[in-house]
Amino acid sequence: MKQERAKWGSNLGFILAAIGSAVGLGNIWGFPYKMGKSGGFTFLLIYLVLAIFVGFVVMLSELALGRKTGMGVVGAYRAISKKFSWVGWLGVIAPFLLLCFYVVLGGYCLEYAVINVTELFTNATPMTGAESFSGMLSNPLRSMGYTFVFTLINYFIVRGGIQGGIEKFSNIGMPALFVMLVVIIIRSLTLPGAIEGVKFMFVPGYAVSAGFIAQEPDFINVLSTAGGQMFFSLSLAMGAMVTYGSYLEKKENLVKNSVLIVFADTLVALMAGLAVIPAAVSIGLQQGIAVGDIKLSGANLLFVTLQDVFVSMGKMGAVFGIVFYVLVLIAAISSVISLVEVVVTMFMDQAHAKGKKGNRSKIVVCVCLAFFAVSLVVAADGLGSNGLWIPFRELSAQVAADGTVTYPAITGCWLDFLDCWAEGVAMPLGALLMSLMIGWEIKPKTLLEEINLGSNISWIGGFYTVCIKFIVPVAMVFILLGQVSDFFGLHLFG
Ligand code: TRP
Repeated sequence: MKQERAKWGSNLGFILAAIGSAVGLGNIWGFPYKMGKSGGFTFLLIYLVLAIFVGFVVMLSELALGRKTGMGVVGAYRAISKKFSWVGWLGVIAPFLLLCFYVVLGGYCLEYAVINVTELFTNATPMTGAESFSGMLSNPLRSMGYTFVFTLINYFIVRGGIQGGIEKFSNIGMPALFVMLVVIIIRSLTLPGAIEGVKFMFVPGYAVSAGFIAQEPDFINVLSTAGGQMFFSLSLAMGAMVTYGSYLEKKENLVKNSVLIVFADTLVALMAGLAVIPAAVSIGLQQGIAVGDIKLSGANLLFVTLQDVFVSMGKMGAVFGIVFYVLVLIAAISSVISLVEVVVTMFMDQAHAKGKKGNRSKIVVCVCLAFFAVSLVVAADGLGSNGLWIPFRELSAQVAADGTVTYPAITGCWLDFLDCWAEGVAMPLGALLMSLMIGWEIKPKTLLEEINLGSNISWIGGFYTVCIKFIVPVAMVFILLGQVSDFFGLHLFG
């Protein structure tokens, strides 16, 4: 018996869900601090170029792959390729690994929203950002509890199905997120000294001339950081877009949809930058730090610096704090549900292939329990603050000439350990193999047929062919080497 595949209720519903998948912690947390680390404007420029020539092309390919085969990532590769049929597995392993720590971070956002609610309604002296942060990390049980609640929310949404769960949440969540972001940006930009942060983001060379960073960073380094960030931010190479694409009607325009998703994701990253960086500069100035000495590059930006901004504003700050952390929470949920759906769809496809209906509720429970079990370890580890055993840690120790011991990112903490395999290896490798498969095995025209079903843009054929055959693979090799070098501490690019 052939099973009728579920479909999105509308194209807008699909777009909001796909934007929801893309917009996540990567935009709100990763983008501002990587921009800080890599010197502001230069990073932005490279990011934009990569988004157009690589991000957009891979996005389009994934949606087409999913819709053409009408299957999730494992089934899609199996159906379309001989040599690369196994690549689909990378596309379910990676999201699974990502889920194991993403839900812990989601739990952190939940905890910070609660901290701000408490501050609003009690009169105790509020904790500083640093106090809240270390208090959170060193309390494993509480983190596990928040991870559980966060996982539960996602469980309920995904159990509702494509239309009844994911699309419904995105239809309300995404517009709400946008409005909240605008509120936070207005607050951030009207803080004293905020303009320095804006200049850091948009004035070429300002990061160096104002002393935020000592010198313009290496081009290759910026390229690989921006590339890795762009890939992560667009939810590429994790099967998410293949899966969402597989539920899309043939009449919808894939080119237009891809442009919209890439544009919206980049816009939100920039907006998040405007919400975070000027506020961080302002609080630094208020704390008496000179402009050039303000650190914008720490991963603490979200949970320490920004919380300090809210605390410094008193009760009103707590209100902004709630708005901000709920906003991040929505972004995290809309990403996590797409990751869960990748794995769930794979099992549903398998059931359908056997002629069975597939018990969605049961599959969702099992998938959630599986990643939740691993996430407990990540929560207990508290970004490495609780001294948990980490695989290969001793093996990877690097002893300097003066005897100091350092560890590469991969064995720094459990979160990085998982992230390394997911974001550092599986994701760039998956994208590289996908571009080789499309460009050289099944040939671009196979997917162009699908792409042209709902669109008639004449230049897309040539543009797509050149990008997927040459530009994407070369870029992916760089990004892969950059990521591996970064995570394993190999210093390949100096
Ligand atoms: N794009 C998400 C973010 O910016 C993270 C992410 C990476 C993701 N790959 C994904 C989300 C795949 C869903 C599916 O935070």
